Amino acid sequence: MTFLDPASRARQQIWRRRRRQQFGLSAVHAAPTRKIGASRAGRQCSRRAAGVPTRGAAIPLTVASRPLDWRLELPGGLAHNLYMPLLTSDVVAPDAFSGGVQPTIPAGSGLVLRRWKPSDAPAVFEAFGDPEIRRWHLRAAASSDEAQNWIDSWITDWPKAAQAHWAVADSITDALVGRVSLRDMQLVCGQAEVAYWTMPTRRSQGIACRAVEALTEWAFGNVGFHRLELTHSVANAPSCRVAVKTGFQLEGTKRSAGLHLDGWHDMHLHARISD
Ligand SMILES: CC(C)(COP(=O)(O)OP(=O)(O)OC[C@H]1O[C@@H](n2cnc3c(N)ncnc32)[C@H](O)[C@@H]1OP(=O)(O)O)[C@@H](O)C(=O)NCCC(=O)NCCS
Repeated sequence: MTFLDPASRARQQIWRRRRRQQFGLSAVHAAPTRKIGASRAGRQCSRRAAGVPTRGAAIPLTVASRPLDWRLELPGGLAHNLYMPLLTSDVVAPDAFSGGVQPTIPAGSGLVLRRWKPSDAPAVFEAFGDPEIRRWHLRAAASSDEAQNWIDSWITDWPKAAQAHWAVADSITDALVGRVSLRDMQLVCGQAEVAYWTMPTRRSQGIACRAVEALTEWAFGNVGFHRLELTHSVANAPSCRVAVKTGFQLEGTKRSAGLHLDGWHDMHLHARISD
C-alpha cells in the first residue's frame, strides 16, 4: 500500500475532480478503485476497442454508462493522463473549444475564415475533383452528398477539441475559396498541425498565406497554443512556399514519412512557436 503525504493527496483529489468536471465522468472513470499500471490499462482498452478479448476484469470493464473504448474519445489528447496525471497544467483549456461557438476570423480585406455550412457541399465536391487536392489530401468525394457528410463531420468536430476546420470564404459574396484547419490538437501541451487547400481557380492570390496567418494569430493570441506544425511532401513546392511565407520555419525532413498514391514521400516539418 502506498502512503501519500497530505499535499500529494490533496493534489490528487483536485486533479480527479477537475477530470470529472471536464469530461462528465463518474467517480469510477476518474478514480479507478483497483490499481493497475497505465500501460496495462491502455493495452486492455485498445485491445477491447479492437474486439480482442482481454484477460481478467480490469478497470474499464466497470464502466457502466460509456462505451468501453471511452478513453479514445476524450478531447485534446488528454486520454493518456487520466491514469498518469501530468505535473504541468494544460496549456490550452479544453473549454476553449467545447465551451463556445466556433468563431469567425477575419483574414484581411475580402477574406474571412467562417464555420462550414451545408451549402458549401457542391464547392467542396468541386475542390476534391482537382488533381492537386486529391494528390496531397488523398481523398476524393464520390458525390456532393459525400462532401455534405464531410462538412457535417467538420462542423461536429468543433466541441470535440481534436480538430477544428474553417471554410475560407470571400467576405462579400460568401463563396468558398479554400479551407484551413487545425488537426491533431494536443491541448495539454498546446500543439496542433495546420492544414489547408485553396480552390484551383483562386490559387496564387495569397489566399492560403492569409488564411494560415489569420488562423495562427488566433490560435496563439486568442486560444493560447504554444507551437503549430505544418508538414508537407518535399514535392509540394507551393505548400512549402506557404509555410515559409507565413513564418513556419523549416525544422527538418522526416524521411519516408508520408504515404501517397505513388508511394512514400519525404516530408518537410515546419513549425512556428508563439512569440
Ligand atoms: C498549396 C496551396 C494551398 C497554396 O494555395 P494558394 O492560395 O495558391 O497560396 P498563396 O497564393 O498564398 O501562396 C502560394 C505561393 O506558392 C507559390 N507557388 C505556386 N506554385 C508554385 C510552384 N509550382 N513552385 C513554387 N512555388 C509556387 C506562389 O507563387 C506563392 O508564392 P509567392 O506569393 O511568393 O509568389 C494550393 O496550391 C493548393 O490548394 N494545393 C493543393 C492542396 C495542397 O497542396 N494542400 C497543402 C497540403 S500540405
